[in-house]
Amino acid sequence: MSDHPGKPPTRDKPNVTFFKNGPLQIREPCKLFDGDTQKEIVPKKFPVYLCRCGGSQNKPFCDGAHNGMGFDGTCVPGADG
Ligand code: FES
Repeated sequence: MSDHPGKPPTRDKPNVTFFKNGPLQIREPCKLFDGDTQKEIVPKKFPVYLCRCGGSQNKPFCDGAHNGMGFDGTCVPGADG
């Protein structure tokens, strides 16, 4: 098994994949919550793609708006959270 996108997950816990200049992908089913209301957001299916460009009309989900808007979502090498 592998941790690379498009490959089967290797862990029981959700993996989050950052797509270059695009959304976050969560492959494994997990609970999602609105940080303001604490209400659970239930995706229709997994994998789910979460917008990180701010352009989606269907937030928190990606609707493809990142394409063509010049969004640079390149991960910073060595980024520390
Ligand atoms: S990342 Fe796809 S619409 Fe924002």
